[in-house]
Amino acid sequence: MLVSAKEMLQKAKAGKYAVGQFNINNLEWTKAILNTAQSCNSPVILGVSEGAAKYMTGYGTVVGMVNGMMKSLNITVPVALHLDHGEYEGALGCIEAGFSSVMFDGSHYPIDENIEKTKEVIRRAKEKGVSVEAEVGAIGGEEDGVIGGGEKADPKECERIASLGIDMLAAGIGNIHGPYPANWPGLDFDVLAEVEKVSGGIPLVLHGGTGIPEDMIKKAISLGVSKINVNTECQIVFADATRKYIEAGSDKKGKGYDPRKLLKPGYEAIMAAVKEKMELFGSIGKA
Ligand code: 13P
Repeated sequence: MLVSAKEMLQKAKAGKYAVGQFNINNLEWTKAILNTAQSCNSPVILGVSEGAAKYMTGYGTVVGMVNGMMKSLNITVPVALHLDHGEYEGALGCIEAGFSSVMFDGSHYPIDENIEKTKEVIRRAKEKGVSVEAEVGAIGGEEDGVIGGGEKADPKECERIASLGIDMLAAGIGNIHGPYPANWPGLDFDVLAEVEKVSGGIPLVLHGGTGIPEDMIKKAISLGVSKINVNTECQIVFADATRKYIEAGSDKKGKGYDPRKLLKPGYEAIMAAVKEKMELFGSIGKA
């Protein structure tokens, strides 16, 4: 059964580790992440962007696939199904469809409007025991056509939004989605420390987990980050493994063209990447 992300993240915050949010795109992604979480005895958050949900034909399909798979794979570790960077309508739609957690990303609205909309999402989510993530200070880079400026969050705005009753807060600290440019100055730990001070102890979320050096990940966790989002890295290792399979001519050997064979190296590459992140985040054995 899906669970809200609230408890697993509060436990992570208290235990000074982070739970990974790994975004899913299809059945192979979902199966790879669920199986890895189970074998690592780790809690996990399945992230779904609005674009990915649309690709999978809708929120209901995603909920049905994940619930069915958890049952057939005997997944017993805590799993949250979480809308990633949802618009207001999307967040409400996912709450109705059976997601156990949603992010309402109102960071592109003026702060007062972000707060009003976040409040309404919280009200609707609480009725169903769904956890809520809010965002202040857009995360940089591009994700599903949404381009963020890489701003740093204003701690005063963080304080206002954290006090509304959200379960986790994403605050921009110079992190960006996708690979980091060579001249990236790194995470701003001063801003992170400020945000932690004013946010009442709620778990903080670090987006853009692909490509952040290990020492920065560990420092961010020590300063209050309890959820780290990873998407691009799984896409890159999947593409690399699939390309190698085809370049080796494996699809031309026997029934190597069978999609169940063709997609296996990519599936296994996602499992390895997820396990590596769980080790780094410290969530192994914490289910
Ligand atoms: P990356 O794609 O950079 O790993 O970021 C993922 C993310 O933050 C999803 O919200």
